Amino acid sequence: MPNGSDFVVVANRLPVDRVTGDDGRASWRRSPGGLVTAIAPLMRRRDGAWIGWSGAADEDLEPFEEDGMSLVPVPLSAEELELYYEGFSNATLWPLYHDVIAPPVYERPLWEAYVKVNKRFAEAAAAEAAQNAVVWVQDYQLQLVPAMLRELRPDLRIGFFLHIPFPPQELFEQLPWRRQIIAGLLGADLVGFQLPGAASNFLRLARRHLDARTHGPYVDVGDRVVRAQAFPISVDVGELTELTQRREVRWRSDEVKADLGDTKILLGVDRLDYTKGISQRLQAFGELLAEGELKPGEAVFVQIATPSRERIEQYQLLRDQIEQQVGRINGEHAELGAPVIHYLHSSYSREELAALYLAADVMVVTPLRDGMNLVAKEYVACREDLRGALVLSQFAGAADELKRAFQVNPYDIDGLKESMLAALRSSPAEQARRMRSMRKRVIEHDVDRWAQDFLTALEQTP
Ligand code: ADP
Ligand code: F6P
Repeated sequence: MPNGSDFVVVANRLPVDRVTGDDGRASWRRSPGGLVTAIAPLMRRRDGAWIGWSGAADEDLEPFEEDGMSLVPVPLSAEELELYYEGFSNATLWPLYHDVIAPPVYERPLWEAYVKVNKRFAEAAAAEAAQNAVVWVQDYQLQLVPAMLRELRPDLRIGFFLHIPFPPQELFEQLPWRRQIIAGLLGADLVGFQLPGAASNFLRLARRHLDARTHGPYVDVGDRVVRAQAFPISVDVGELTELTQRREVRWRSDEVKADLGDTKILLGVDRLDYTKGISQRLQAFGELLAEGELKPGEAVFVQIATPSRERIEQYQLLRDQIEQQVGRINGEHAELGAPVIHYLHSSYSREELAALYLAADVMVVTPLRDGMNLVAKEYVACREDLRGALVLSQFAGAADELKRAFQVNPYDIDGLKESMLAALRSSPAEQARRMRSMRKRVIEHDVDRWAQDFLTALEQTP
């Protein structure tokens, strides 16, 4: 039996990506997405190993330490990246789990690669985990790992957390491999979801497709029970508060405001993903300008879009669409040297994001479907000054908790325009009332509490 780690996180990605510069030298850069934002601070605070892919194809790296974490790379070939990551994970599961906003691709070679790569992750976890260790498997890319790992190491306590939505029966049943996915997840002792509705969807599917018996949150699987429950993920409020109190961050925020001139700032911060509703929010902003509800100079939109999954066709189409839309709206409403939309297709440091959150009068978060959306919670966590307003889609998991946001249906462009205007025109007193209530929730339910709740429930699952 290995000596390994008592606590192991298994995720598709490591928290850092290996990038090769123009000079040919390799270095590490923070990986994109909410999963890394949530798990990295926890791993820095506890001993444990993080198993994941390095972000580059065909690299077989030794385990290493980075940014206070022990990282164990799992290699992926270029073909596996295409079939398992870009294919089954992001062209099949991602759209299927997000309301089929884009049509999911159902192809057998993609599934076969998913099985093969999940096996590799399970073997890496089995080799790393100490006797009776806790292994916490993350997200939709690795749904077969819990059962595969249990087969290899029945001594382990296995948790699984899904960061994205879990779809209703009517959609999930499209998947040709639906039984295998449910059986894979049932290898865990505890399966965590963002929202109670997702846990109910899963329990119902387990009954229907595996003839499993359920009672409350428990599924009977012969000699064990599996618990399925919601644990809404959150942000590291301590880290964000510390950032926003730094003098350089405040200066930078003032500098952004000064650069943009005497105007209200609307802000969007997203991975460039078709689930995020970026086009809908830009359309609403463009129409407000076209109808004279907003005058150029009165408000600007800053849209930060992190490059994401750039080799997948749907993402390429989205990028073209957004860039055309930005060009058209600026073409119609901008003046020389004064665009109405500032669009930045790039990744930024935590300091820069915090400065932008502090500068924004209105944060616009309008996903068509989102498991949680940490950007919304980050904005709230940064606004200790109780200023600023949050426009938030009803279809983001965060809407369950952030009830005092200006909540919108992002498909309803008129409703979106009204909410953006109401948020822009809200008085400081109203902003403070809403922000105070949202901050209470985020401060009391931060990422530490999320992890603690999950790991305590995992320990207690019979
Ligand atoms: P997802 O996991 O789908 O990407 P979330 O909103 O839950 O969505 O999490 C996104 C995370 O990525 C947040 O922590 C956010 O601060 C970060 N992020 C988003 N855009 C950028 C960017 N342009 N540069 C740096 N970090 C970003
Ligand atoms: O939380 C959703 C999520 O897909 C994570 O699993 C993932 O790490 C992140 O967003 C970013 O996506 P990707 O790893 O495909 O760049």
